[in-house]
Amino acid sequence: MVSRGRLLQLRDHQALIAWEGTARLGFAVISTEDAAKAELLAIRAVTPWRGIGSALLAAAEAQAVEVGGVRLLVATTNDNVDALRFYQRRGFVLTALRLGAFAEVRRLKGLPETGEFLGAYGVPIRDELLLSKDMR
Ligand SMILES: CC(C)(COP(=O)(O)OP(=O)(O)OC[C@H]1O[C@@H](n2cnc3c(N)ncnc32)[C@H](O)[C@@H]1OP(=O)(O)O)[C@@H](O)C(=O)NCCC(=O)NCCS
Repeated sequence: MVSRGRLLQLRDHQALIAWEGTARLGFAVISTEDAAKAELLAIRAVTPWRGIGSALLAAAEAQAVEVGGVRLLVATTNDNVDALRFYQRRGFVLTALRLGAFAEVRRLKGLPETGEFLGAYGVPIRDELLLSKDMR
């Protein structure tokens, strides 16, 4: 994935998996390399609107706090209005807008013109929005 202009391998970071019995319901990936600014690199609920994302985010926040994290950062894109709502409803505030950041992402890894997730609403992907939550 690409976040904040960096090409990252999710497998290099810690994954949290949501389970129901033996079924995997979703995952989150968190980087705690910089404890002061832990970063949620990815979060995905296989089936939305069942509370899976909330549970994963709570687990990621607990992990950030455990390593002494002061802030938890997350980046999303302008098309992902459901994610923007999701994070802001859970205490994240917008900290930056990287206008046109996805031209560079397309160059680094290729990317469709619009998001593919449920909730992308066909909005062209252009910009990156950064959010942060104070964990103190
Ligand atoms: C963002 C994401 C992780 C949220 O996970 P989730 O399991 O759907 O989240 P939850 O069920 O815990 O909460 C979803 C919210 O949608 C609401 N919701 C429920 N049914 C809904 C519906 N039919 N339409 C819209 N919203 C609905 C829930 O009430 C909840 O609202 P709240 O924020 O007011 O509490 C999930 O949508 C996802 O995997 N998206 C695709 C991947 C992605 O975009 N990841 C983020 C990249 S930055």
